[in-house]
Amino acid sequence: MMGLSVGNTGPAINVGFPGLALQDGPLGIRSSDHATAFPAGITVGATWNKELMYQRGKAHGLEARLKGVNVLLGPCVGPLGRMPAGGRNWEGFGADPYLQGVAAAETIKGIQSEGIMATIKHYIGNEQEHYRQAHEWALPNALSSNIGDRTLHELYLWPFADAVRAGVASVMCSYQMTNNSYSCGNSKLLNGILKDELGFQGFVQSDWLAQRSGVGTALAGLDMSMPGDGLFWQDGQSLWGPELTRSVLNGTVPLSRLNDMVTRIVAAWYQLGQDNETLFDRKGPNFSSWTNDEMGHIYNGSPDDTELVVVNHYIDVQGTGEEAHSIIARKVAAEGIILLKNEDNILPLSRDGWPSFAKAADQLGMKYRVGIFGEDAGEGKGPNFCVDRGCNQGTLGSGWGSGAVEFPYLISPLAALKKAFNPDKVYVTDFPTNAPPFGTEPAILKDQDMCLVFANADSGEGFLTVNSIRGDRNDLNLQKGTDQLITEVATRCGDGNGKTVVVIHSVGPVILENWFNITGVKAIILANLPGQESGNALVDVLFGDVNPSGKLPYTIGKSLDDYGEGAKILYYPNTPIPQQNFSEGLYIDYRFFDKYGIEPRYEFGYGLSYTTFEYSLMSTIPVKSKSLLPPARPETDLSPPKYSEEIPNPSTALLPSGFRKLKKFIYPYLDSSDIKKGNFQYPDGYGTVQSPSQAGGGEGGNPSLYDIHVNVSADVTNIGPVAGAEVVQLYVSYPRSPPIQPAILPQVEAWKFDTDMTDFPVQVLRGFEKVFLEKGETKKVKFSLTRRDLSYWDVMQQNWVMPTSGSYTIRVGSSSRDWRLKGEY
Ligand code: NOJ
Repeated sequence: MMGLSVGNTGPAINVGFPGLALQDGPLGIRSSDHATAFPAGITVGATWNKELMYQRGKAHGLEARLKGVNVLLGPCVGPLGRMPAGGRNWEGFGADPYLQGVAAAETIKGIQSEGIMATIKHYIGNEQEHYRQAHEWALPNALSSNIGDRTLHELYLWPFADAVRAGVASVMCSYQMTNNSYSCGNSKLLNGILKDELGFQGFVQSDWLAQRSGVGTALAGLDMSMPGDGLFWQDGQSLWGPELTRSVLNGTVPLSRLNDMVTRIVAAWYQLGQDNETLFDRKGPNFSSWTNDEMGHIYNGSPDDTELVVVNHYIDVQGTGEEAHSIIARKVAAEGIILLKNEDNILPLSRDGWPSFAKAADQLGMKYRVGIFGEDAGEGKGPNFCVDRGCNQGTLGSGWGSGAVEFPYLISPLAALKKAFNPDKVYVTDFPTNAPPFGTEPAILKDQDMCLVFANADSGEGFLTVNSIRGDRNDLNLQKGTDQLITEVATRCGDGNGKTVVVIHSVGPVILENWFNITGVKAIILANLPGQESGNALVDVLFGDVNPSGKLPYTIGKSLDDYGEGAKILYYPNTPIPQQNFSEGLYIDYRFFDKYGIEPRYEFGYGLSYTTFEYSLMSTIPVKSKSLLPPARPETDLSPPKYSEEIPNPSTALLPSGFRKLKKFIYPYLDSSDIKKGNFQYPDGYGTVQSPSQAGGGEGGNPSLYDIHVNVSADVTNIGPVAGAEVVQLYVSYPRSPPIQPAILPQVEAWKFDTDMTDFPVQVLRGFEKVFLEKGETKKVKFSLTRRDLSYWDVMQQNWVMPTSGSYTIRVGSSSRDWRLKGEY
């Protein structure tokens, strides 16, 4: 709170480098005004539309720039979605590394095209909210996510590699420990995997208070401490600040490390063009994260800051006319809608009601009667009723926490529906409550021809508890009694003959089993978290102005148990430092369902359309032959800039005379130049020079990982009645192949999957393209598979290995279980 953003760096006044403003992300500009509340990441993932992913990122970046922000704290790909009830899964794009990677890369390119530094977060293993952070959960330490090397590479790290390759400026290390070392102080993860193997050139910032040591984190590769406090909130006792100065001056932290931190931050700033003063005026944010009033404090966190100045300039950054960001927000929300069920082609509706019934009713001079039920349909107490969206009331547009924003407006489904139906033909009754007076007024169900019933499931960041949900959901059920509401409506609508359309807003998978089979349930729409354009987007799809084309970015199982033991949140500590063993290895979401032959309710990649697509003519053209290992890491003639390594005179770090210090502000200055040179004992092996990873050599890893090995194409034809878009998906199955090293049999259960190299998932997503097809139109859809797409991480080799014996099976289809064409490589 020592600045107007959620994260602020101090300016380097001697060299004229400005302070930087860092702001959440990832679905809009948090704690601001007149900015767009975009659909959440999970909705973006559900579109499977790369262009929209980019456009949303770009609009988000532009808004950040116009608000005076330097660094956006998004996108989010960790959590990946190992646990379907994970509180923050909705900030990311879905439970598959490939989908997350593509969506993150497009978002980053979009954000950074506007000169804003994007931050990929949370690196890594931040899969649940419970015990994510020291002290937040009454324990002095955070939990440890224990992840095997192969699992780390093939699942959790995968999207981070795409982000680095896309040129992301910053990486945020996560709160919890990974393999029992805090992620922000884990040298293997930061120095080793991120900076060497993935070739990350930007800066690593800590999540807010995720830094748990001073020298340790500096040596491990942390570059920026956020928000700068020490071990506790707002105590001003930084682990760096003057302590970092002292550690450098006394030789504990090499000066080269400090230079490296600075270079990474300053280089990122130049790389993004932020030295361009016409685009970045250096005045800092024109809004305050800490007050909505016009006047406020610049250093809100300091008791010494008594001066009130104008902090909120209320600049509208939403764009106007054809450039209005609401257009993108609406497109994403509409394309993110997944049509799960559409019996008797009940959808799309007509403005006059359900077409055939409406006609009959009309002839009798009657109106078609539509009843709308459920709190989630309506406005409730307004979209910004609770801080950081920390309550589930009214229609659900986003989850809660730092990833949420102030809605400039929220078009509720009810408002949009009332506008959409033709009042001359349709009589709409609405009960935007989860407990309509069915008992006293049974007619409100009996007298309907059609019922639209709304339900939801919410979750968020663990610092807020909502309806006894501490971040992570307590189960996968619909919330606030809406399972019962749907059951009642679907059974009694139209005296049992009505048609019920269920609309769900949700942060992730929900169990549909309680009412799925009720005859009255004709259609189910999963509208995810649509943001401000909720109602408009829903109406677009319900009435067929937009043909639904969203696909599930996760699996909908029949119960939480169906996802396996690893999918369960650790709600109670199992040891003083809670341990989450990722023993299921590669088997999360559809990989788990496939491996154990579990029938989901709706599979990953599933979603219906109002039209039908036919697949034909698949071709698989090898362009490069297989080889086990990528070529050696390329030599580079680039070397990092060199600076003097002479430790400066401590007097240069003294507080400048006449300087007025603000209480709690973190300065680098020392009060005394009396520096004791200690004899710091580094851990054994610290001085051993490590050889660079053979998997590295470029941004995103060894450049040859991105060489194309095979081109695939398939024709897709729209053979149905209306135009529409199809998400053509490509899944790869690895050949059964022997390990290239004798398998070792470790004693530690959690390693089993990492050493059993012949164990592959049944299939993995390795390509998707969304194509729009007019009625009768055919298009050729093309994919390229790279070495990376066809490799697995070999723990013994410490490299990506491409099996050369046997053939890969390549399937192209409409979901992870609706395969249409098959080829081989
Ligand atoms: C903590 C959250 O985990 C992170 O995602 C966010 O960017 C920071 N707080 C700042 O609000």
